[in-house]
Amino acid sequence: MTFAPLVQMNDGRSIPVIGFGVWQVPDDVVVDATLKALEVGYRHIDTARIYDNERGVGEALSRCGLDRDDIFVTTKVWNNDQGYDQTLRAFDRSVGLLGIEEVDLYLIHWPTPKNDLYLDSWRALIRLREEGRARSIGVSNFHEAHLRRIVDETGVIPAINQIELHPWLPQTHLRDVDARLGTKTEAWSPLGSGQLIDDPVIAAVAAKHGKSTAQVMVRWSLQLGCIVLPKSVTPSRIEQNIDVFDFQLDDADMAAIATLESGRRTGPNPDDFHEA
Ligand code: A2P
Repeated sequence: MTFAPLVQMNDGRSIPVIGFGVWQVPDDVVVDATLKALEVGYRHIDTARIYDNERGVGEALSRCGLDRDDIFVTTKVWNNDQGYDQTLRAFDRSVGLLGIEEVDLYLIHWPTPKNDLYLDSWRALIRLREEGRARSIGVSNFHEAHLRRIVDETGVIPAINQIELHPWLPQTHLRDVDARLGTKTEAWSPLGSGQLIDDPVIAAVAAKHGKSTAQVMVRWSLQLGCIVLPKSVTPSRIEQNIDVFDFQLDDADMAAIATLESGRRTGPNPDDFHEA
């Protein structure tokens, strides 16, 4: 069993540096996958309303035999639930499906700037945090302008900005913006949605350390200072992806992986993503 260390967020609360991502995991599959993750040491689960598997995650939470407070649970408000009242209602639905009273982290999933409702949603998240129902609050896929706007208007700095981040897209600028604000960066699709698994540069680094390419990518994101959310439904991979605390990438490894930067995304650009 491997436990990921905790890191402190700007609100004083702590978060495990590796979370189990469940994007694209169907509700019936997510129960066993989450139980497996908890069994091998994950204590941080990252879901969202749009993943349509909060019920299954909740079932795993109730069946795993662990204390609720030993597991860090994140969910997110979807684009068509943005706005102050809508976000409060969406939160109620999510905690109802998860079968818990409070979430550890509630995020705005995308800024959807054309809809111009993310500031209203942020105010709703501030209320949820004041009420203690969302222990920490943050955003996802926010660019610098979106971050600046919510901080300037409310004075409340997100604890987390969860963004697409992998060797093709190391997000140097946005990580710097997050760091200057005191916001922790979380990496989604840290394996490039699986597309970087067979990359020869990463494979060479992996061979040097006797690790898999997935383990090297998780380790790389951690060494950039990120919280990392690898996704898998395969028990052996779930176990492997958290087993990254017995080796370290050196400067030459980090430099080799840095050569893979291409700006290529596996998901949409947040500036023009408005899917409802
Ligand atoms: P699967 O879920 O079938 O195990 P990302 O976290 O970047 O979104 O990548 C997720 C993808 O990478 C999934 O297709 C997942 O497959 C695959 N994957 C996750 N962990 C590993 C691993 N250790 N080795 C190979 N493929 C992996």
